[in-house]
Amino acid sequence: MDTTVSLAGLTLKNPVMTASGTCGYGVELAPFLDLSCLGALVVKGLSVRRRPGNPPPRIVETCGGMLNAIGLENIGMEAFIEECLPGLGVLDTRVLVNILGESEAEYGVLVERLGDQDGVHGIEVNVSCPNVGKGGIAFGADPCMLEKLIRFLRPKTRKPLIVKLSPNVTDVGEMAVRAEAAGADALCLINTLRGMSVDSETRRPRLANVVGGLSGPAIKPVALRMVWEASGRVRIPLVGVGGICTAQDALEFLICGATAVQVGTAQLRNPQACVEILGGIEEYLERHGIARLADLIGSLRMGS
Ligand SMILES: Cc1cc2nc3c(=O)[nH]c(=O)nc-3n(C[C@H](O)[C@H](O)[C@H](O)COP(=O)(O)O)c2cc1C
Repeated sequence: MDTTVSLAGLTLKNPVMTASGTCGYGVELAPFLDLSCLGALVVKGLSVRRRPGNPPPRIVETCGGMLNAIGLENIGMEAFIEECLPGLGVLDTRVLVNILGESEAEYGVLVERLGDQDGVHGIEVNVSCPNVGKGGIAFGADPCMLEKLIRFLRPKTRKPLIVKLSPNVTDVGEMAVRAEAAGADALCLINTLRGMSVDSETRRPRLANVVGGLSGPAIKPVALRMVWEASGRVRIPLVGVGGICTAQDALEFLICGATAVQVGTAQLRNPQACVEILGGIEEYLERHGIARLADLIGSLRMGS
C-alpha cells in the first residue's frame, strides 16, 4: 500500500505530521516517539530573536480542548540552527520550520536564513497566532497584507512556503486565494480560534493574557469546514489541522481535500497519537481496498 503524498514539491512517506508548538524542536518528543515514522515534523514557531512568551498561567483546559496563550516563546532562529537542527538532520523525516515575525522585514530574515539550511525542507509561515500583541495575526487577518507579505517572501527562498492560515477571519477561502496568488506552495489550515475562560468564583480570567487560542477536538468541525471551503477555491495542496485525535479524524480531512494532516493537542495527551493515527489510516486503506492514499484525497461524495 502506498501512503506517500506529494506536498509542495516534497514527497512525504505518509501524510501525518506534528503540529507546530506541540512537539517543541523534536528533541523533547524523541524519547516518547520514533520521529522517523512521521511524514514530517513541524517545529515550534521561531522568531529572529529569542522570545520569553507570555507570563503564566498560559494553558487552561476547556470542554473538548484547551486554551493556550504561550505567546510564541522560542529560542530564536540562530540557537535553533546551532543546537537543534544538527540532531534533526539524522532523522528519516521531513523537517518544516514554523516562523513568526513582527514585521515583513523580520519574516524576510527568517525565510532567508532558515531557507538556506540543508536540514530545513520547507517553511511554514505562521500569519495566524492570536496570542501576541503585534505581528502574525495582523498579516493573517487582512487579505491585502497577507498577499503583500507572501509576495515579498516568495523570491527569498527556493524551499516550499506553506502559509498557515487563521480561522479568525470572515472568509478563509479569500485568504487562501490571496496566498496562492502570491506564490504560496501549500496552505495549512487552521491555527487556533480566539477564546477565553473565566473563574466565576474569583471573577478572574484563567489566562494571564486573558484571551488565548482554542485547540483540540472542539475545533475540528470548524477546521474541517475551512479545509473543505479552501479546497474548492485553490489548486495548491492543503494541510489540515485542528482537533485531529484519531485516524477517523485524519481521514475526514483527507477526504475533504487535505493532502496531509497535523496533530497538535492530541499529541500533548498521547505522544504516540501520530503513530496510532497512521496505523488506523493504513488499516482503513486496506479495508476499503485503496492501494494509493493519494486516491482518497478530496474524494468527498456529494449528493445522493
Ligand atoms: C501549546 C500550543 C502551542 C502552539 N504553538 C504554535 C506555534 O508556535 N506556531 C503555530 O503556527 N501554531 C501553534 N499552535 C497551533 C497548532 O499548531 C495547531 O494549529 C492548533 O493547535 C490546532 O490543532 P490541534 O487542535 O490539533 O491542536 C500551537 C498550539 C498549541 C496547543
